[in-house]
This record gives sequence, C-alpha cells and structure tokens, in this order.
Amino acid sequence: MPEKKPLIVINFKTYAQATGRAAETLAKIADMVSKMEKVPIIVAVQPTDIYRIAKSTSVPVFAQHIDPVAYGSNTGWILPEAAVDAGAVGTLINHSEKKLELDVIEKTIKKAKELKLQTICCAADSEQAKSVAQFNPDYVAVEPPELIGGNISISTAQPELIEDAVRKVKSASITTKLLVGAGVKTKEDIDIAMKLGAYGVLLASGVTKAKDQKRAIQSLIIGEDKLPKEKKKEEKT
Ligand code: G3P
Repeated sequence: MPEKKPLIVINFKTYAQATGRAAETLAKIADMVSKMEKVPIIVAVQPTDIYRIAKSTSVPVFAQHIDPVAYGSNTGWILPEAAVDAGAVGTLINHSEKKLELDVIEKTIKKAKELKLQTICCAADSEQAKSVAQFNPDYVAVEPPELIGGNISISTAQPELIEDAVRKVKSASITTKLLVGAGVKTKEDIDIAMKLGAYGVLLASGVTKAKDQKRAIQSLIIGEDKLPKEKKKEEKT
C-alpha cells in the first residue's frame, strides 16, 4: 500500500521571514514544493497577507485567527466574511498564542462552517483536543505549548500524547482529523506522527526560520539525507 501523504500546515506566525513580501515568497515556495512533491500544504498567514498570497499563489491560504463577529461595529476584529473575501479557504483558531474560551471556539467554528471556511482548532493536550473536537472542526491540532518553537518535537518527546489524542478526537467526532505540532522539523518527526495515527502536522519555525526555506520544506517531505549535501544551510536561531 502506498504511504499516506501527510498534510503539512505551515504557520507563518508573525516571523519577519514570513511577513508581507517575505510571506508571499514563502507561500510561492510552499506552492511549488507542494506541486513538485505532490504533498498537500496549507499556509496560515497574517490577515494582512491573505489577499496578496491568495492572489499570487494557488496554495490554500488559512487565516491565523478569525473572530465570530458579524458585519457592523467591531473595530479591530477579524470579520470571517472579510477573510473569505480576501481569499482565505480556512482558518486556524485557538492557537496557544491566541487562546479562546470554549464558547467562543464553538461560535467561531459554527460561523466558519456557514461560510464554508475550513477550521483547524488547536489544543494544548488530548483532553482539550476532545473538548474542541465535539464542535467538529475539520482538524484539531495538538501542540504542547512548552515544545512550541523548540528543537524537540512532540513526536520524540510525547509520542503517547499523539496516540491518546488520536483516540480522544475519534471518540468525540467522526469527521475531525488530527494534526500534531510543536518542534516538528524533520521527516522523521512527521513519519512518527503519521504512524501513530495523525493526519498531518502543523509547524512554523522549522520552515519560516530556515535560511533555505525551500530546502526545509523538501527535507520535511523527502528527508534531509535525500537532498544534495552541498546545499545544506544552517538554521537561524
Ligand atoms: O502553529 C505551529 C506552532 O505553534 C509550532 O511552532 O515553531 O514549534 O513549529 P514550531
């Protein structure tokens, strides 16, 4: 049986290397590698970058957050309709850097569904993953906050969390798929997650901060050992 391809979601956060023009460049790279390697990639970008990226690439663009507000008097909030209009096809919500209350999560997922926006709802552990999975987002992404941005991945540090989250999400929703994230930087990290039942990964610094972002994405998919050695670049700290 052919290996199942992972879904790779790259969260651009607010890294300088993934903001504005640099965000557009990175999204084009992600688009190209996705097509080249035939692996699905999604980019989660700042609201101010949705339009330029959706206009200039065919990579699926997600907002990093939306608010469950309607047209009207909501200064500074992110109107879901505006995200759709700018070209977003989905949204992250409840990232550990943008936590939401459970009732807000429910409302936001409901609103996103009405607009046919896909949803990735983040969770810090498997219990939280189960709680948010009951709202049937398309994906729940489990990320232990203490591993985010570091060099030790969820796959190596907490494989049992992945297994537990797979079970708990399944028990709460028959449609929601599990992504895992935090410290994911290698193909091995992804392979472990997939073997344990994840559908894909959510990651950021391994790609955004790499000196050679194209190589970093390729390496996630085909493995560092399969890439030409001479092009190897150091990562920024
Ligand atoms: O949203 C992905 C993120 O929180 C994980 O970050 O840098 O550990 O891949 P990173």
